Amino acid sequence: TVPLTLLGLESSCDDTAAAILRDDGTSHILASVVSGQTDLHAEFGGVVPEIAARAHAERLDLVVEEALDHAGLTLAEIDAIAVTAGPGLIGGVLSGVMAAKGLAFALGKPLIGVNHLAGHALTPRLTHGLAYPYLMLLVSGGHCQFLRVDGSDAFTRLGGTIDDAPGEAFDKVARILGLPQPGGPSVEAEALGGDPARFALPRPLLDRPGADLSFSGLKTAVLRARDAVIAKKSGLTAQDRADLCASFQAAVRDVLAEKSRRALYGQTGLSGFAVAGGVAANQTLRAALEEVAAGQDLPFVAPPLALCTDNAAMIAYAGLEAFRCGQRDGMDLSARPRWPL
Ligand code: KG4
Ligand code: ZN
Repeated sequence: TVPLTLLGLESSCDDTAAAILRDDGTSHILASVVSGQTDLHAEFGGVVPEIAARAHAERLDLVVEEALDHAGLTLAEIDAIAVTAGPGLIGGVLSGVMAAKGLAFALGKPLIGVNHLAGHALTPRLTHGLAYPYLMLLVSGGHCQFLRVDGSDAFTRLGGTIDDAPGEAFDKVARILGLPQPGGPSVEAEALGGDPARFALPRPLLDRPGADLSFSGLKTAVLRARDAVIAKKSGLTAQDRADLCASFQAAVRDVLAEKSRRALYGQTGLSGFAVAGGVAANQTLRAALEEVAAGQDLPFVAPPLALCTDNAAMIAYAGLEAFRCGQRDGMDLSARPRWPL
């Protein structure tokens, strides 16, 4: 293998990221810088696209400089530039694509447009060298889908959410209960002291065949359960809050575990069951998914959290696989707000 050093750029949601990946048959992350925007959007209760786009445009140069600095490299030592070309918020994706084009043109180096979801889906190969084919559950604030991964450009969607992503549901439940954002970690912490059996919340779509999921009704059920408690006692105690969190988390766990079982059912030749996305940080969920994998005699692969959430190392890695397969993009590379795998 010819050794290669790639620069990766990511700006499709609310993280501006740059990473440098060195590959000599084995991939090494030389630097991975992520500049988050949670603070910028906090007062609006969600990501504001215009604010995000402006922040990406301002920060891309800075994260690239910082990544080069960490890696102890200069731009001249970069062999190719990989950038998220979609899907995502169009302003942010455009900022990244324009920055990458500028660098590729100025340096006379190849440009590779990467699908953000492919970045997540290939991460278990970067972190664990997982062989094709494998099943991937992508669970984040914006995504929820099962993918069979047969190659760097061969994905089959086996099911996914028909409404909200689970991270979104965790965030909304936190808001309903007055817990801090991001909701996932705060709901998980509260749930530790709670009784998961106290509130009988729905397990959406379990009555329907297949691996599709739904989370919006679950969030509404939590709201109703909260209001019922408040109506009875004119307030929520810390225990009520913990019980609601535990009951909600158990419902998400049950649904994701059962749908994972169904997605895996009948799939042959798999080398493992992998997860990615911010929600994969949840310990209760991880334990349940690990059990599902073990039930099928499959290794369970969960990348470290920093590589589960949005980052540019995964973009550089997906770019590397595409580059090795011959992909080169030109100055006409476009930013795609929607881009299914
Ligand atoms: O992958 P990610 O960083 O961003 C994208 O959505 O692209 O995922 C963020 C989501 C948030 O909704 C957050 O609440 C959720 O992941 N999350 C968690 C946990 N940590 C983060 N959800 C459940 N349990 C956690 N421990
Ligand atoms: Zn993502």
